[in-house]
Amino acid sequence: MATVTAAFDRGLQATRVALQEFGAANCVRGSFRRACVLKLAADLPADPMKDFRQMKQRGEKITALTAYDYPTARLLDESGIDIILVGDSLGMVVLGYQDTTGVTLEQMLHHTRAVARGVKQALLVADLPIHTYDTPEQAVETARKFVDVGAQAVKLEGGVSHVSQIQAITKAGIPFMAHIGMLPQSVREEGGYRIKGRTQSEAEALLADAHAVERAGAFSVVLEIVLADIARQITGAIGIPAIGIGSGKHCDGQILVTHDLIGLFPWFTPKFVSPEARVADEIRRAARAFIERTRAGG
Ligand code: KIV
Repeated sequence: MATVTAAFDRGLQATRVALQEFGAANCVRGSFRRACVLKLAADLPADPMKDFRQMKQRGEKITALTAYDYPTARLLDESGIDIILVGDSLGMVVLGYQDTTGVTLEQMLHHTRAVARGVKQALLVADLPIHTYDTPEQAVETARKFVDVGAQAVKLEGGVSHVSQIQAITKAGIPFMAHIGMLPQSVREEGGYRIKGRTQSEAEALLADAHAVERAGAFSVVLEIVLADIARQITGAIGIPAIGIGSGKHCDGQILVTHDLIGLFPWFTPKFVSPEARVADEIRRAARAFIERTRAGG
């Protein structure tokens, strides 16, 4: 009882975590239980996963961007973004690695904690890094660690090949976003970031992946660098929203790495991105102005 009362006072973010941890119906009895459930219902947004399906049905596009730190998360949240992803692209655009295969669980948890402090409205999804979901048991254990630091959903890379992990996560009550198409964690085996769905067999495999993740309980699926026409077919064939990155305009929504969108990683911008800002130039300009001012004795 004391635990539940304390959860009331910790605010929305903690209440979401508390709900996952304790289960509203199991932790209290009688009228206090009703009060508890009402309080939780008032604090929590109406089932956001259901909202995304409804958005798809209404033809409303879903927007998603990545964040890895508190200020960016808060700015994106205040801008009205639907989903914030703590992507393992962290490894490339924040930590300076060649690809995402060196990202560790500790790094992802550390950055998810920071992002969670800045998010009030958006759905906070976190990426499970490579080799933290090799078995269904490990996938659930890792997913729970992300929920414990404030994530509301998790994502991992794979379709048919990872159905047992996805089922285990969704059965554990953790909302799940799938990711198929080009899988950055497999870039070394694949030998580069290549467009998917060019051949008939690749297109069929992608469609099978999309159906498999929907059946396994995913509430949405990211389609990364999939041929636009195949992405359109997949989007029309499944009931959950398909959120594209470099996969054309017919998906139910779009996701981008924020550094690409705002021009904060000027050394490489994917071909499919049209940056909306040039933040790197602004940083250089401000730094040069400060250097000049200081050297001039100001
Ligand atoms: O790690 C990432 O940023 C992603 C993308 C889908 C944006 O997975």
